[in-house]
Amino acid sequence: MRFASDNTSGAAPEVMAAVLKANEGYDRSYGADAAMGRVTALVRKIFEAPEAVVHLAATGTAANALAIATHCQPWGAVFCHAHAHVAEDECNAPEFYSGAKLVLVPGDHGKMTVETLSSSLARTGESGVHGVQRGMLTLTNVTEAGTVYSVPEINALSALAKTYGLPCHLDGARFANALVTTNATPAEMTWKAGIDVLSLGGTKNGCLGVEAVVLFDPARAWEFELRRKRGGHLWSKNRFLSAQMEAYLTDGLWLRLAAHANAMGQRLADGLAQKGASQRHPVQANMQFPEWTEGTHARLEAAGAAYYRFPAPPGREAARLVTSWSTTATDVDQFLNAF
Ligand SMILES: Cc1ncc(COP(=O)(O)O)c(C=O)c1O
Repeated sequence: MRFASDNTSGAAPEVMAAVLKANEGYDRSYGADAAMGRVTALVRKIFEAPEAVVHLAATGTAANALAIATHCQPWGAVFCHAHAHVAEDECNAPEFYSGAKLVLVPGDHGKMTVETLSSSLARTGESGVHGVQRGMLTLTNVTEAGTVYSVPEINALSALAKTYGLPCHLDGARFANALVTTNATPAEMTWKAGIDVLSLGGTKNGCLGVEAVVLFDPARAWEFELRRKRGGHLWSKNRFLSAQMEAYLTDGLWLRLAAHANAMGQRLADGLAQKGASQRHPVQANMQFPEWTEGTHARLEAAGAAYYRFPAPPGREAARLVTSWSTTATDVDQFLNAF
């Protein structure tokens, strides 16, 4: 009953096997390893993007911060949702690496809208040399509220940003979960929808620790490499990152793991709904924010459940529950029984 986060799970056996295999013998360092070439080929095929450039990082924060720094000048505004991970949970790493300023765009259930983005864009960059300039857009899918942007929603937001000539980044720490929900292809959710650069998560969905930065515009790739090295995120034994990513993307493992995590999320949400809990946001992937009556936390925790408590109005309690590739139906049913 461990629902604190999908990164409290271990790594999938296929990923562990690939890492052990990568440990045999010698290989070239700093991204020149054989598996890295195969990762690039896999990503290009899966994303139908023969020109895409792929680089790996060990954390999502590094992937996001470096992707943003590569696409925004220090005087630029990075438009992000008010509760985006880049704004609330990365200790200002995006600002540190880019020198740019995050501009928080409101919106219900973790999503900005064309209206809210439009008004933030209109308010920014109007005071000439004295003010922050419009820089780029960054979206998150799955969002921090556990909701999912559809492809048409991403399209509409990126099209609006492009009217100002702004590049668009997608924080896909849970990209596979969003794909499974929408049934979109990787290309449809990214470059075909106006996304220029993607942080493609692996860690939360069955890897040990790896994220891919996919640059759909190869013109930015060298700058990204320089920034990654300068920022201390070029791994010398890159082969252990590429082995994980190769196993993750091979034979649809990434989508199978995400489909399972989402299905467990739905099972949990359905069970909680039957027992009278409400949800703060629509449950669309593997993260949910239920609310229930006072006294429930104590009962669940006494039964051994682990998750984050959230503030709630008097008489109520709230939580964040995250399911993962390794959550079992038994975990979910035990939680529901304890509830
Ligand atoms: C939406 C999102 N982006 C990025 C990250 C990056 O995480 P980390 O730097 O912890 O690997 C996370 C992790 O919680 C996340 O939820």
